[in-house]
Amino acid sequence: MNRTEEMIQKDVAHLWHPFTQMKLWPDEPPLVIQRGEGNWLIDSQGRRFFDGVSSLWVMVHGHNHPRINQAIREQLAELDHSTLLGLSHPQAIRLSAELARICPGGLQHAFYSESGSTAVEIALKIAYQYWQQCGYPAKKTFVALENAYHGDTIGAVSVGGIELFHQVYGPLLFPVHRLPQPFCRRCPLGLEHPQCRLACAEALEPILERHGEEICALIVEPRVQGAAGMIVQPEGYLRRLWEICRRHEVLFIADEVATGFGRTGSLFACQLEGVEPDLMTLGKGITGGVLPLAATMSNDKVYQAFLGEFAEFKTFFHGHTYTGNPLACAAALASLELIEETGLIFSLGPKIDFLRKGLAKIAELDHVIQVRQQGMMVGIELCRDKAGDVSYPPEERMGHRAIMAARKHGVIVRPLGDTVILMPPLSSSLEELELLLDAVAKGIKEATEV
Ligand SMILES: Cc1ncc(COP(=O)(O)O)c(C=O)c1O
Repeated sequence: MNRTEEMIQKDVAHLWHPFTQMKLWPDEPPLVIQRGEGNWLIDSQGRRFFDGVSSLWVMVHGHNHPRINQAIREQLAELDHSTLLGLSHPQAIRLSAELARICPGGLQHAFYSESGSTAVEIALKIAYQYWQQCGYPAKKTFVALENAYHGDTIGAVSVGGIELFHQVYGPLLFPVHRLPQPFCRRCPLGLEHPQCRLACAEALEPILERHGEEICALIVEPRVQGAAGMIVQPEGYLRRLWEICRRHEVLFIADEVATGFGRTGSLFACQLEGVEPDLMTLGKGITGGVLPLAATMSNDKVYQAFLGEFAEFKTFFHGHTYTGNPLACAAALASLELIEETGLIFSLGPKIDFLRKGLAKIAELDHVIQVRQQGMMVGIELCRDKAGDVSYPPEERMGHRAIMAARKHGVIVRPLGDTVILMPPLSSSLEELELLLDAVAKGIKEATEV
C-alpha cells in the first residue's frame, strides 16, 4: 500500500466530510491535496489542478502568497493568540479600523468570529437585541428569501431557505417571513422582467405593512444567492429592499460572506447598488482565503443601542474563544493591503469580460439551460432538455458527473445539484480562465452526451 492509499484508508475510517454522503465516499477515492501554489492545487501524487472554486469561495490572491505567509510568520513570532474578552491586540485593532474604512456606509464597528455562519448568528442576535433595547420588544422575527443560504448553525439555518439542507431541522428552527426568490428564469410569481417592476422586491412592502411591528430585520445575500445556484438578482432589486426596510424601520442585514472582497467585481456587492446596510457579515475571502476569520460589521446607530451602565445589562453577551485571532487578523490585513496595492478590483474587469465571452459558448451546449454570472461568480445549470422542462433524476448526479469529468481535464470545480459552480481565484490569469472554461465545457459534454 503506498502513502496515498494509506491516507485514504484512514480518511475513510475516521474522517466525516461536510455535505458528503459517506456511504458513497469510498467508491470514488478522494484527491488528497498536498500543496497549494498560486491558483493551483497539487495532490499527493504530484498531479496539478486549477482551483476553480477558490477552495470553497475563499481564495483571493492564490495559495501560498509570500506576502500573506510573511505576515503570518511575523505575527507568529510576536503573538500567536490572545483573547479579545477584556483585552485587545494590535492586529484586531488595525483590522477593525481598516474594515471600517472600506465597508460601505457607516459600518464602523467590527465584531469578530471564525466562520460565515457565526458572523450571521451574531448579526441576527445583534438585530434582535437592538430592538429589545430600543423599547420595541415585539420586534422579534426576521424576513429572509426563499432559497437563501446563510450557513449551517441553527439561527443561520432558520433564515436559510434551501429545503434540501434545512427541512430536516424544521422543528428546531424559529419562524421567518419569506420573500419570493428573485429568480427571473423561473419567476415564482409567474412574471416577466422588466415588466414585473420588481414585484418580488415589492412583496416586502405588504409584509412590513402587516407585520412590521414584529419584524426586527431583513437578511439577504446581496446581488447573488450563491448556494441556491448563483441566482443573480435583477438590477435594482437589492436597493428596493433596502429602501423599503428603511421606510419601515426594519434593520437591513447584508450577508456578504460569499460576495465580499471582490467576488462580484466590486469590493462589496452592496456598493453596486449604493446600499448601506445596518449590519454586514464578512467571512470567506476576508483573510485572502488563508485562515478562518469572520466579522459582523455594524453601524453606529445599532452599536449605540448596546451602550449603557454595567447594571443595565445592555452588553452583547456573545464571544467565541478564538474571536479575532491575531494570526488571522494579520493575514486579513496583508490581504487588504494586496487588494489595494495590486489594484485587484480594477484588474477584474477584463477577467469578468473574458469569462462572459467564454460562457456564452458553454451556454450553447445541448444540456445547458442557463449560465448565470455576477463578476467572478458563475453557475451553469444543466438539464436533460434544452427547454429546461425535464430535470435529471437526482440518482443520476449529473452535476457531480460533470465536475468529475472536468477534473480529468485538470480543474477542480463543485456542483450545487445540477448547477456547475465556477468561482476562480481573483488572481487567475486569462490563460487560467481559458483552461477552466475549456475543461468545464469538455466535462459537461462528456457527462451529458452519454
Ligand atoms: C452567503 C453565505 N453566508 C454564510 C455562509 C456560511 O459561511 P461558513 O461556511 O464560513 O460558515 C456561506 C457559505 O457558503 C454563504 O455563502
